[in-house]
Amino acid sequence: MATVAELRARVREWRREGARVAFVPTMGNLHAGHISLIELARRHGDRFVASIFVNPMQFGPNEDFAHYPRTPGRDAGMLAAAGCDLMFMPDVHEMYGPGATPPTRVEVPEISSVLCGQFRPGHFEGVATVVAKLFNIVQPDVAVFGEKDFQQLVVIRRMVADLCFPITILGAPTVREADGLAMSSRNQYLGDEERRIAPAIHHALLAATRAIGSGSADLDAIERDGAAALAAHGLQVDYFAVRRRLDLRVPVADDRELVVLTAARLGKARLIDNLQVDRL
Ligand code: PAJ
Repeated sequence: MATVAELRARVREWRREGARVAFVPTMGNLHAGHISLIELARRHGDRFVASIFVNPMQFGPNEDFAHYPRTPGRDAGMLAAAGCDLMFMPDVHEMYGPGATPPTRVEVPEISSVLCGQFRPGHFEGVATVVAKLFNIVQPDVAVFGEKDFQQLVVIRRMVADLCFPITILGAPTVREADGLAMSSRNQYLGDEERRIAPAIHHALLAATRAIGSGSADLDAIERDGAAALAAHGLQVDYFAVRRRLDLRVPVADDRELVVLTAARLGKARLIDNLQVDRL
């Protein structure tokens, strides 16, 4: 289904029947990580909608919008097999109109300008704007996002609270390859040698969470060690940071619920990952 009008008509029918609607937004090129979100969504709704839309507004001018992998036929098969009732696949015109004027934007300040926001200016504004539009189009009761994109999840939770969307946001755990690499459509950009190196990201995050979990208080040293370990494998590190889970601020002494986040470039791919940890 490609138009807002068709989607609204179908969802209206479901609502008349009293169905609870669950929603998973994606950019397609689905993998087992996406499917795990879909399985979680199905447990929380009677009807289930997935969207596939490669959102130009969240890509920077020198990023991979044009080359982002698009596999709509395969995605449709995977969604049908996962029990999806409706796949919404609008084109850019359907979402943004003729495009002569910039769209109204949703900005979630502070959280959007740190970590990935520092390296991808405007990215989270693009994400918040398209997710707000999709929420208004689908009007789901529940929406599921992956913890893989932890900062994105924090931005969406904040937007939903601030703008009073009547939607429950669920976070789903990160799905990994057997060697620990977080699944991502962008892993396809890795060459063989790079793919062999990439699990170093998960290992560095594990070392950091182990140090924090066993009582190490020097978070600056943990950040420095993590970044150095990745650099030693030839990755170009954008950041390796320990933050509070709630709002991604630098932790103060009483903060217990932490997350270690990193972004690093390897060949043509920019990879992100994170691990949560509770401080003693
Ligand atoms: P996309 O990268 O396609 O991801 C869609 C959803 O799948 C996101 O919530 C993401 O966190 C989740 N996901 C990706 N890899 C995962 C993994 N290995 N384990 C668990 N979940 C994973 O994120 C986006 O699209 C876009 O920014 C979007 C929210 C659709 C807005 O355009």
